This record gives sequence, structure tokens and C-alpha cells, in this order.
Amino acid sequence: MTDFVGQIALDGPSGTGKSSVARAVATRLGAAYLDTGAMYRAATVAVLDAGVAPQDGEAVAAVVAGALIEVGTHAHTELVQVDGVDVAVRIRSAEVTRAVSAVSAVPSVRRRLVDQQRALVAAADAVVVEGRDIGTVVLPDATLKVYLTAAPEARAQRRALQLGITDPVEVAELAADLRRRDAYDSNRADSPLRPAEDAVVVDSTHLDREGVVDRVVELALTTVGVGR
Ligand code: DC
Repeated sequence: MTDFVGQIALDGPSGTGKSSVARAVATRLGAAYLDTGAMYRAATVAVLDAGVAPQDGEAVAAVVAGALIEVGTHAHTELVQVDGVDVAVRIRSAEVTRAVSAVSAVPSVRRRLVDQQRALVAAADAVVVEGRDIGTVVLPDATLKVYLTAAPEARAQRRALQLGITDPVEVAELAADLRRRDAYDSNRADSPLRPAEDAVVVDSTHLDREGVVDRVVELALTTVGVGR
């Protein structure tokens, strides 16, 4: 437990180990944790269950407007529900992963979830918030903004290890999929993925998870009080 009070925005592309870093930092600082990607994934479950095409922006907006999306803010107990149903496992499925970029590009979906994110953050004294647009859009006044990045090959290798994939062709496919998602997330009109101007960029290509966690915790503890 530490004296950290404030918000840490942790942004960056997929495959950088962002989630496990965010959870570990929250635990070390005794802070709450919010996984905003889980919220976009839960919205995607609602869209798929409604039988709506993820590319149909208007229909997607209507489904998400009518869905009750709930997420927890504890680093070690994942609570994700849609209309009261636990979807914590389903949100990680390949089907949801394929469709989530399109759902998260719909402006009214973003507005709705960003409002919810800000309300959850306001309820915590100390919180680590993980996503793509936290430092740029959701919390422009966050105490600390970190943009976590890594070379695409390193990210594909890590993802392969997690999934137990060793076939080089499949690893190359993973790298291609990561690049596709990065390009989609970085080029969308609403809240594209990019580092905030005042973000500290941490490149994890040559750092292990503990090295990254140490760096972010150190930044958090030295940032406390700055500008207050
Ligand atoms: O971090 P993740 O893979 O669970 O995120 C899932 C998708 O949601 C990803 O394609 C980008 C999108 N996302 C977003 O647009 N904004 C956020 N704050 C978090 C995630």
C-alpha cells in the first residue's frame, strides 16, 4: 500500500502486456483498476447476441443504448456483465475480438462508455485505467499518463506464448492481425489510438513485465503532488 492518490492512464496497442502491467501496478499501489477494453468487448457481446452486423453503425448504437453494461474495478476479480449475465469469459473469444474494433469505432457507443468510465473513475481515490484513449479523451487531466508500446514482432511473440502457439506461420498471422487492429484503431475518426502529448512513452520491447511495472510505479510515486 502506498500514498498514491490520483489516476494513471495506461494506453497503447494490444499485445504490449498492458493488462497484466495495469493490474500489477494497481495492486502495488493499492489502487482500483478499470479495463475499458472489457467494456467495448461487453458491448460487442450485446451486438452479436442481438444478431446485428458490427459494421452497421446505427443498429450497433441502438443495441448498445439498450444494454446494461457493468464492469468491476478490482484488479483481481474480473466482473463483466451484460444485462446481468456474466460475460467475463466470452469477451475474450475470437468472435468478439474480431468484431470489437468496428463496435468501438461507433461514436455514440464511445460517448456512452466514456461517460460510464468517468463515473467509475470518480468513485475511486486511486485508479489505474487501461485503454486506448484514456490520456487523450477520457481523462485529459490524469495524474500520470503512460503510453506502453513494443515492436510488433515482440508483441506477436508474447501473444503466441499466451495462446500456446509455436507454428511460425501462425505467429506471422498473429503479427498481421495485430497490425490490422492497430491500423484500424489508429485511423478511426473518433478517438484514434495515439499517445497524449504529455504521456511518458514506455517501450517494453526489451523489458520484462516486472521491469515495466517498476518503471510505472516509480513514475506514479514521483508524480504524486506535482501540479497539486
Ligand atoms: O484492450 P482490448 O484488446 O481488450 O480492447 C478491445 C478493443 O476495444 C480494441 O480493438 C480497441 C478498443 N478500445 C477502444 O477503442 N478504446 C479503449 N479505451 C479501449 C479499447
